Amino acid sequence: MPAGAIAPWKGPGQEPDIRRWILGYAILAPHSHNLQSWLVDLGMPDEIVLHCDLARLLPETDPFSRQIMAMSHGTFLELIDIAARERGLRAEIELFPEGAFGADKLDQRPVAQIRLVPDAERKKDPLFAQILGRHTNRSLYDLDRPVPSAAWQAMAEAVRPNPLRFGFVGADRPDVLNRHRAIAAEAWRIELSTPRTIMESYKVLRVGAAEIDEHRDGLCVLDPMVVLMSRIGLFDRSKAPGPDDYATTSQIKDFFKKLNSTLGFLWMVTDGNDRTTQVNAGRAYARVQLAATAHGLAMQPLQQALQEYPEQAKPYADVRALLDASSSAQTVQMWTRVGFAPPIEPAPRRGVAAQLMRS
Ligand SMILES: Cc1cc2nc3c(=O)[nH]c(=O)nc-3n(C[C@H](O)[C@H](O)[C@H](O)COP(=O)(O)O)c2cc1C
Repeated sequence: MPAGAIAPWKGPGQEPDIRRWILGYAILAPHSHNLQSWLVDLGMPDEIVLHCDLARLLPETDPFSRQIMAMSHGTFLELIDIAARERGLRAEIELFPEGAFGADKLDQRPVAQIRLVPDAERKKDPLFAQILGRHTNRSLYDLDRPVPSAAWQAMAEAVRPNPLRFGFVGADRPDVLNRHRAIAAEAWRIELSTPRTIMESYKVLRVGAAEIDEHRDGLCVLDPMVVLMSRIGLFDRSKAPGPDDYATTSQIKDFFKKLNSTLGFLWMVTDGNDRTTQVNAGRAYARVQLAATAHGLAMQPLQQALQEYPEQAKPYADVRALLDASSSAQTVQMWTRVGFAPPIEPAPRRGVAAQLMRS
């Protein structure tokens, strides 16, 4: 991993501008496909106005931009809030100050306007200490180490400020774990073997150090075998692989192994699915992952089955039934696997300056 691409994980250090210092943490938020679609306007003193970069959407797999414009901006806002508290500031966050987007059409209006107000009474958040250590971990998890009940409790506690239902299943329910694994595996198979959805991921796949360093975003692959195959033209990202091609079958097998190494799953269900609800689900996800990090836990979202494109209809219905969220009023916003795993390299970030539309 090129050092410059992960330098933001050292934190903003002695950055003298308080808004940039706060943003130095916010850009470390989890974001769907690591697209970092946060566009920040610092034109007004003591304010941060957040827009969504409409060039960084995933229309095939996230057709309503629920995951990008809403959840992945919720994670960013949560980190702004936590970092502001650290400096004795209250982040007054007004969502969609010029009106919320509808279900399927976005425009240039802001996602949020944040005013930073001094507030000596504002309590610091202990989750702040986890921001630099939180990473999405896609490794095999440790089958000998179930998620301790104190960690589940801490995760449930962390999401409490957000109005949603938090659920989890652990190693004591192997039958239920197997149902989670089966749905996640099938949803992954569908995503990999649907040409337009796999192509969407290929477009933001960065293979090898040079591509990663050039883009500092997207999905990164450093596996020497894949890097070599790409270099000699055996991994062709200009067209979708067939369902029986090695690129598809090897990934399905690999993911299946990872699911089978997983002894915990968690989920978040909301009543309703408006934009504010989606943003708040993103905020809750950031908190739950930070709480898990404090317990040394790894986490990886499994969003394929939750995605609203027609080929996923069956896994989508199956996961809703499994999570007791079948009513049309309910939405499963997040579903992840949880466990213990060796540490991994951080994902790249473009840095605060690259996110600014006005400084
Ligand atoms: C709304 C949302 C959906 C995500 N879905 C997935 C997913 O389905 N699979 C996955 O491996 N990671 C998923 N992620 C994690 C991102 O890929 C990850 O945050 C990003 O690559 C940056 O890496 P980091 O979390 O280690 O900083 C998701 C993150 C968010 C916020």
